[in-house]
Amino acid sequence: MEFHLRFLLTNFIGVHAFFFFISLATAELPRLQHPTKVDGSLSFLVVGDWGRKGAYNQTQIARQMGKIGEKLKINFVVSTGDNFYDDGLKSINDPAFLNSFTKIYKAKSLQKPWYNVLGNHDYRGNVEAQLSPNFRSVDSRWLCMRSFVVNSEIAELFFVDTTPFVDKYFVRPKDHKYDWSGVLPRQHYLSNLLKVTH
Ligand SMILES: *[C@@H]1O[C@H](CO)[C@@H](O)[C@H](O)[C@H]1NC(C)=O
Repeated sequence: MEFHLRFLLTNFIGVHAFFFFISLATAELPRLQHPTKVDGSLSFLVVGDWGRKGAYNQTQIARQMGKIGEKLKINFVVSTGDNFYDDGLKSINDPAFLNSFTKIYKAKSLQKPWYNVLGNHDYRGNVEAQLSPNFRSVDSRWLCMRSFVVNSEIAELFFVDTTPFVDKYFVRPKDHKYDWSGVLPRQHYLSNLLKVTH
């Protein structure tokens, strides 16, 4: 296995997800194809910790993203998790989806696919809802899965669900409730994830 480039994305709340470019394909993660631009290049923005219903300067940052996105003619947006503060989405009808996503990232250049993974805050909500493909009928940009690959000819981006690796969310959840449906039994989930990504 040969690594060309590797980014570790972290933020001040926690480590959510990492993606890296790799030359070798793994067969078992869901794979999405995303073409490059006609000149063979690829541009995208990466954002995390954003769903604040416009507060905490989210709206201002969204506007700046729109300008940069236009300049770079981005192909897509990557989101590293903590998509909806504080506690993820409650259901498929949660208005936070519109108020933190659709109505915030309105710029023309951001009307591209958004490749999302879950963060620890998302795991405090209804995970199945946030992962639901039904959101695509609300906003066709939305794509959220636990772990997957985006293949873009010149690069493969690996999205890996790292929140379940963090012990403290299991052993010291404090007053937070995490939705681990689909993750338990944890050891099985983690070893399978390591197998398909290695
Ligand atoms: C928004 O950004 C301004 C300018 O950087 C900053 O002074 C302010 O504290 C920010 N507001 C919030 C709620 O983070």
